[in-house]
Amino acid sequence: MQDLLGKTAVVTGAAAGIGKAMAAAFAREGMNLVLADLDREKLDRAAAELSAAGVGALAVPTDVTQPEQVEELARKAYDRFGSVELLCNNAGVLGPILPSWQQPIENWRWVFDINVLGVVHGIHAFVPRMLAQGTQAYVLNTGSIAGFINGPFFAPYNASKHAVVSLSECLHHELRAVGCRIQVGVLCPGWVNTGLAQLEQKLPAELAGVNAAQAQSDIVAQREKNVRQMVADSISPDEIAAIVLAAVREGRFYIFPHQERKADIEARLHEVLAEAQPSFPPKKPV
Ligand SMILES: NC(=O)c1ccc[n+]([C@@H]2O[C@H](COP(=O)([O-])OP(=O)(O)OC[C@H]3O[C@@H](n4cnc5c(N)ncnc54)[C@H](O)[C@@H]3O)[C@@H](O)[C@H]2O)c1
Repeated sequence: MQDLLGKTAVVTGAAAGIGKAMAAAFAREGMNLVLADLDREKLDRAAAELSAAGVGALAVPTDVTQPEQVEELARKAYDRFGSVELLCNNAGVLGPILPSWQQPIENWRWVFDINVLGVVHGIHAFVPRMLAQGTQAYVLNTGSIAGFINGPFFAPYNASKHAVVSLSECLHHELRAVGCRIQVGVLCPGWVNTGLAQLEQKLPAELAGVNAAQAQSDIVAQREKNVRQMVADSISPDEIAAIVLAAVREGRFYIFPHQERKADIEARLHEVLAEAQPSFPPKKPV
């Protein structure tokens, strides 16, 4: 989709991090913006910042785990702008860092409700409207490099991102089968310098107790420390947004901002095909 001027983008998880940076990048291309996030305060601040930069943005507080709220988001976007050409199903959470046997079932439900069903709700609410509008359009789902590589102690997150890659591929095949002008992309970054790893601030009150009850081993504490460091040392969300913009224009499906991590994917696939024991990080045989 080369020409973005005057087209409309809807971004979930738009109040912070990658979502906010993508929204700002789309605004610079002259797109209309619909910003959705669970955090009303941050959402209003993000919309005000964009307005101060001369961009009118419609802010719609939305919990992507609630299908009726995502439906309302779509209704408001179409009422205001008449069409949506770019949907970014981006809202996501990392979830607590624990071994699988200690991940409370509540963590699995929380992570899957946001990271997987949030994307499904976006597809349900927007794709039929995009099909009816008949124009070129693009659905971008935020996956992760964790949709291809499985680091320890984030099983719910890794599994959710594998699901996002899988459902994105299915959606792509289905849209090709019906012969329409909607393209799909799956954004798969490595670490990005955002608030994603501020774990204790993100956990809803009802999950805090069950997680606080889990004994934390030294190895998990070390992994958590490493993750925070890797996030702090990583690339900015603005860099991701610039890569996304180019990918939207090209209609690219797989988007890997961290090109160097492709070697890990190759090594993992090598292990899979060789029926070898998985290693982490995956190692390609010499
Ligand atoms: N930061 C990274 O290292 C990294 C790497 C790979 C993929 N990702 C993915 O990028 C996406 C954005 O994450 P980020 O790094 O910008 O994190 P972030 O925490 O800075 O932003 C995520 C936003 O999503 C919102 N959100 C959370 N739950 C929501 C819900 N139920 N409904 C609506 N909004 C909700 C939050 O309020 C927040 O504003 C996520 O899907 C994440 O998994 C991030």
